[in-house]
Amino acid sequence: MPSDPQTDPDQPLVRLLYTSRATPECLADLQGGIDALLATAQRHNPEHQITGALVAHKGWFIQVLEGPEDEVHGLFRKICLDERHCSANLVSEGPVETRDFAHWSMCARQLSSLDARILAELDRNAAFDPADLPESQIMELLHAVAAASARTS
Ligand SMILES: Cc1cc2nc3c(=O)[nH]c(=O)nc-3n(C[C@H](O)[C@H](O)[C@H](O)COP(=O)(O)O)c2cc1C
Repeated sequence: MPSDPQTDPDQPLVRLLYTSRATPECLADLQGGIDALLATAQRHNPEHQITGALVAHKGWFIQVLEGPEDEVHGLFRKICLDERHCSANLVSEGPVETRDFAHWSMCARQLSSLDARILAELDRNAAFDPADLPESQIMELLHAVAAASARTS
């Protein structure tokens, strides 16, 4: 687990939340794809003071990025061009006082039967669509991913 990154004092700290659709090619080996994304993120994010979490569920990616404004915007621009997903949709973005995922350069998880409690909550709606979820529930989901990652790391 990386240490809490220092944040550039000259830039506001922001949190950006988006959803996207994994492409069929990415879904063909989703776990391999997540492992590759995670390896890249864990290599790149520390030098850009970025922290966050990513969850994959039913063909969706949901990711939160935290860090200095310019760094977060720069990474999000790059992520939007990534051909492993499409239809990136910005859910929210704005200044925050503190990081919620300070200990994670990035953590990522595909929801599985191990996440029974989370799944029970999400699957109350037959078709999972993050656009139907309030932002607070999306953040709860991402916190659950970080907690599960902490238990397994
Ligand atoms: C859903 C998703 C999440 C990603 N998250 C990150 C991330 O947190 N950090 C990162 O450096 N790259 C992330 N990437 C990969 C970037 O799009 C890009 O491939 C990577 O940063 C390498 O960029 P470069 O070739 O310009 O160095 C993500 C890609 C996808 C599809």
